[in-house]
Amino acid sequence: MQIKENISLQPFNSFGIDVYAKYFASFNSIDQLQELIASTQHKKNKHLILGGGSNILFTKNMEALVIKNEIEGVEVIEEQDDFILVQAGAGMNWHQFVVYCIHHGYAGVENLALIPGSIGASPMQNIGAYGVEIKDIFHSLEAIDMHDGNKKIFTNAECEFGYRESVFKNKYKDQFAITSVTYRLSKKPVFNTTYGAIQQEIDEMGIKDLSIKAIAQAVMNIRNSKLPDPLKIGNAGSFFKNPEIETGEFEKIKLAFPSLVGYPTKKDNIKIPAGWLIEQAGWKGFKEGDVGCYDKQALVLVNYGKATGMQILDLSERIIKSVQSTFGIMLQREVNVY
Ligand code: EPU
Repeated sequence: MQIKENISLQPFNSFGIDVYAKYFASFNSIDQLQELIASTQHKKNKHLILGGGSNILFTKNMEALVIKNEIEGVEVIEEQDDFILVQAGAGMNWHQFVVYCIHHGYAGVENLALIPGSIGASPMQNIGAYGVEIKDIFHSLEAIDMHDGNKKIFTNAECEFGYRESVFKNKYKDQFAITSVTYRLSKKPVFNTTYGAIQQEIDEMGIKDLSIKAIAQAVMNIRNSKLPDPLKIGNAGSFFKNPEIETGEFEKIKLAFPSLVGYPTKKDNIKIPAGWLIEQAGWKGFKEGDVGCYDKQALVLVNYGKATGMQILDLSERIIKSVQSTFGIMLQREVNVY
């Protein structure tokens, strides 16, 4: 394990922002992580733990020790008639984990195919897509406290999951390095095809016998058709969260904008697609220099080449103001800004 100095973070963030880290190191075991915690560079500097770098916007050079989690490996730790506990290293690529589960017939993650990022990042923001969130199948995780190097296990309840939220984005921000995550997957799948265009895509694919593999393929087709590939166009998926508003407020806005769509939430509020609000406010397909609002999904801000993090942040501010003045709704960012 080597601590390098003055390293470009461009290859380590899906926006492709070219900022520098004062110190940079990667680890592939808990021992190596503990060595890093004991290092002078850690003691004298702030730290940032990077997973896949797919939900982060760098706006400046990082005067910190940036640590990349590369703990790999996946293993079954318990098997019963109807479920299985699978533990994966936090550095494992999320989609590779989905592929592994589908190959072995473990159900629960098929709707989450092709989400960029790592296993360790999945509980950070309770990743979700097409009617499923990881909190539905999350069992527990192991993490190392960056203050003292001690191991701590977090149960589902202790992670305090919410919509794209967890304790790791809030009160424990930057305190723990997640080293592995255990998921409880089902050996008897319950197919979830009600969300959005999944069923329609499955019909178009000509699938007669539904399977977790078919659902994952349908999800991949839909994602590929409207989300930009970060390897080609820098982005971090949804830049904003879908806002929740009260039913009364929803009705009022709908009077002025009859095409407004919304989905009731468990708290009797209405969740509105931020992509719709941004499109209606006129930003979809906007491009200025290398910064833009993606033309197939307005919720995604993109770097067409050499955009800086500040330029992307600035565009997000303009969008927030414009949506606020058009609809009276304040968008919140989903992406972590540094
Ligand atoms: N819409 C528009 N214009 C747009 C985009 C969306 O009008 O430019 C409207 C359409 O009415 C569409 C609705 O928004 O029916 C919902 O769009 P979509 O199904 O694409 O989903 P989303 O609400 O925009 C959320 C997640 C995505 C996830 C999809 C699918 C958030 C912040 N985003 O997006 O997650 O893939 O649902 O489940 O909740 C991510 O978090 O990075 C992410 C990509």
